[in-house]
Amino acid sequence: MASSDVRLVTKSGGERWWENAVLYQIYIRSYQDSNGDGVGDLEGIRQRLDHLKGASGALDVDAIWITPFYPSPMADFGYDVSDYCAVHPLFGDLDAFDRLLADCHARGLQLIVDFVPNHCSIEHPWFVESRSSRDNPKRDWFIWRDPAPDGGPPNNWKAMFGGDSWEFDPATGQYYYHHFLASQPDLNWRNPDVRAAMYDAMHFWLDRGVDGLRVDAVQTLTENEALTDNPPAEGPTVKAKAGSEFASQQHINDIDWPDNIEIVRQFRDVTDDYPGALLLGEVYLLEHERMVRYYASGRGFDLCFNFLLVNMPWNADAFRNAIEPLHDLLGDEFRIANVLSSHDESRIATRFGPERARAAAILLFGLRGMTTVYQGDELGLPDGVIPNDRLQDPFALAGHGLSRDPARTPMQWDLGQPYAGFSTAEPWLPLATDHPGMDVAGQRDDPASMLAFYRDLIAFKRVSEPLREGSQRFIDDLPEGVLGILREAGNQRAVIFVHMGESRCEIAGWPGRIAIASDRNREGETVTGILSLEPNDAVVMALS
Ligand code: GLC
Repeated sequence: MASSDVRLVTKSGGERWWENAVLYQIYIRSYQDSNGDGVGDLEGIRQRLDHLKGASGALDVDAIWITPFYPSPMADFGYDVSDYCAVHPLFGDLDAFDRLLADCHARGLQLIVDFVPNHCSIEHPWFVESRSSRDNPKRDWFIWRDPAPDGGPPNNWKAMFGGDSWEFDPATGQYYYHHFLASQPDLNWRNPDVRAAMYDAMHFWLDRGVDGLRVDAVQTLTENEALTDNPPAEGPTVKAKAGSEFASQQHINDIDWPDNIEIVRQFRDVTDDYPGALLLGEVYLLEHERMVRYYASGRGFDLCFNFLLVNMPWNADAFRNAIEPLHDLLGDEFRIANVLSSHDESRIATRFGPERARAAAILLFGLRGMTTVYQGDELGLPDGVIPNDRLQDPFALAGHGLSRDPARTPMQWDLGQPYAGFSTAEPWLPLATDHPGMDVAGQRDDPASMLAFYRDLIAFKRVSEPLREGSQRFIDDLPEGVLGILREAGNQRAVIFVHMGESRCEIAGWPGRIAIASDRNREGETVTGILSLEPNDAVVMALS
């Protein structure tokens, strides 16, 4: 599909380019290393743009989101920022960023950066000052509290990455609050100076011309000022992968505190100055009613990820329940960012099994809203197996939960080259697999490959009015295990069937033509009476 066919309204041409866009997530450490240090960088991304847009064989995605590339001691691999308005030398410099942005825009590719407002690094000068004395002007930029009468932490809150949420600072005799690692102190969003400084950081990147911000960990921005203890857990309201102590509490005082919404409205006030800039929320709440409040009726996020999708088993009812109520809550005006994988989750081909990876992709592209593709999933990469002596993820090293390293292994460009063409030096994490064909070079010109499949799905979503703009309705009374979704735009209709059940089935009453199928031999097939599907088959059909 040539880029001239793009009917997506771009930033310069309109305001809601992102509604039905395909967003490709780049985990910068693992995309492409350009300077031989085993870690990916900004120039590396620029050198590999042909994979994404504007070259023959490109995926032709609409936008990229790049994970943090800011100065950081890398305790949480960049999600511990020590300067919001600069580039870590490991990843390049501001000139390299500007070159990348210019090249993206020349190709019609939008670029989204990660904004990490909840916490910074213990090495950020703001925190260094804040901890230097109780009367430092920046003391109140973070959340400092006196010890409990027994000298212990001020309350029972637990950190998501394990242990207490409070770290004692012997020099000043108080505890500071951290939702994640102790080296990621939470900023005090009740302090207007913090807000002003963080809004300046947003302006810094938006003024440079970025097309939007993916905002990290929004649910954790503010807490109950009374520091009331959390009660024991009842329901699955938090990230399933969190440390067990964390999961043992109901996070009613430290997560999703109502003051968060006012801050999100202020984020929106900032981006209002930049027509078309996307505000994309990582609001990790597994209850739809709570998450949709962050759209603030059109004055908050443009889109939030539906994280229920990454927590679902391969089960049609489970997926329907993860999607349908949310769409009902959002109504027609708002869209969702659909996501099945990321740098924090197990990969699609491992979580569901390689035999289901294509059907999962059809589901992902069939859903109304933005489609997010995590780098490497377009090759069908599995999770890597990381030997203990190469573990990197602080979460795993602390022994509090599953490692996120397996989904963060280097992009596999060409297995015929050292380190699959990712780097000339030993990469920071090993490759996921050396299985022949698990690379871009091996798949690019093979019409039967996963890469060709993703390319075709992206092209189809671009031209299919029902998939792009269409309403979305789940179909009842289908055979056991089949998820069916009807998408309708004007007089054009498409249907998506994903067979998550265990035996062959037959579906009657949906005549049409198969446009895309997990079994590619079936594309073009005309269905007049019965559509039969094997387990793990999925199709997109244009209805007659
Ligand atoms: C988000 C990021 C994750 C990071 C955490 C803390 O959930 O996606 O990678 O560890 O925030 O910043």
